[in-house]
Amino acid sequence: MDNVLEVKDLATYFFMHDYIIRAVDGVDFTLGRGETLGIVGESGCGKSITSMSMMRLVPDPPGRIISGEISLKGRDILKISDDEMRKVRGNEISMIFQEPMTSLNPVFTIGFQISEVLRLHRDIGKQDAITEAARLLRMVGMSDPEERVNEYPFQLSGGLRQRAMIAIAMACEPTVMIADEPTTALDVTIQAQILRLMRQLKETKDTSIAFITHDLAVIASFTDRVMVMYAGVAVETSTVHEIFKNPLHPYTQGLLGSVPVLGDRKVNADGSRKLLNAIPGSLPDARRFPRGCRFAPRCPKAMKKCWEAEPATVEVAPGHQVRCFLHHDEVRVISKRDLGAAGKRVLKNQQKNSGKKKSSADGSKTDTPTARN
Ligand SMILES: Nc1ncnc2c1ncn2[C@@H]1O[C@H](COP(=O)(O)OP(=O)(O)OP(=O)(O)O)[C@@H](O)[C@H]1O
Ligand code: SF4
Ligand SMILES: [Mg+2]
Repeated sequence: MDNVLEVKDLATYFFMHDYIIRAVDGVDFTLGRGETLGIVGESGCGKSITSMSMMRLVPDPPGRIISGEISLKGRDILKISDDEMRKVRGNEISMIFQEPMTSLNPVFTIGFQISEVLRLHRDIGKQDAITEAARLLRMVGMSDPEERVNEYPFQLSGGLRQRAMIAIAMACEPTVMIADEPTTALDVTIQAQILRLMRQLKETKDTSIAFITHDLAVIASFTDRVMVMYAGVAVETSTVHEIFKNPLHPYTQGLLGSVPVLGDRKVNADGSRKLLNAIPGSLPDARRFPRGCRFAPRCPKAMKKCWEAEPATVEVAPGHQVRCFLHHDEVRVISKRDLGAAGKRVLKNQQKNSGKKKSSADGSKTDTPTARN
């Protein structure tokens, strides 16, 4: 399968007053033509910032893509001008945002917002663009689209707003569509309709989709491959079949183990109530990751080595990459990142506040970006 998108060593940091948030810290993945890649991981692991980085929409300041390559059909979109990126965004790569209410402009009608995308990228008149907007709204299953084009986002229900977002994202039939939890806020019937719609798009237009969700059932039924993210990095990537059948990373195993299974007994043999399996602890603070493997503080299989070095991502079977010392011995080599003027400012402020403690709350060794770079 030829890759339409190749992301290499993508790192996006937020430069706050006296600390740096490493939201995305060296993510690599590919997306084949017509392929759907599911992206999973717990809240705060960097899924949305990875997507925003692909759209070059990270709020700057305080955010900045500090390294990496995002090659879209062979062209590195991190190297093109803002003007060129405007032609790419919405046309070749588009995104359904996590929050439709905050992503749609409240002061413009839905019809205007869809036709604006069409007019920006296509040679089309105002009236024709509105007619096309109504056609797109019909396609995403909205009734009375000729009326709806004149409505404002606040007049639509959550499901209709999400459909309007999808219509905008689909308007120019992009090569790559990023869907950031497009169905999380919707009820199951609308969710099924929207997934059907996206599947049609993939099948008829060969659209490649990066699909972010917390819903493992959606991942199982809708995606071809899965990337599991943890603390700003990808910890495991493989086909959906392989991830469910043979998860290798302890985090992936924990994630899959925490899904309730229909028909499972709800009480233990002693009569006590059975609790769902949960991964103990929480995501590490993105200001100070543990020095070794980022999952070590929560990992039931952590070894001495895991606290000393960070594992590299290694392909341990065809198409199956994992970042864990249980499966290889390779240590991650971090490329030198230029933190620029923003990094120097943070360092200066950190020095001013040097009285403050530099270790993590539990006193364990941590790895801060300014100490490392
Ligand atoms: N504007 C911002 N300023 C500072 N930090 C930010 C900003 N946006 C995101 N972050 C931080 O970046 C990290 C990754 O956030 P991101 O939104 O990508 O998480 P996510 O995986 O999409 O989570 P969720 O599942 O809750 O949507 C988090 O630590 C978050 O606090
Ligand atoms: S490297 Fe060590 S701590 Fe990290 S996931 Fe693997 S076993 Fe657990
Ligand atoms: Mg998100």
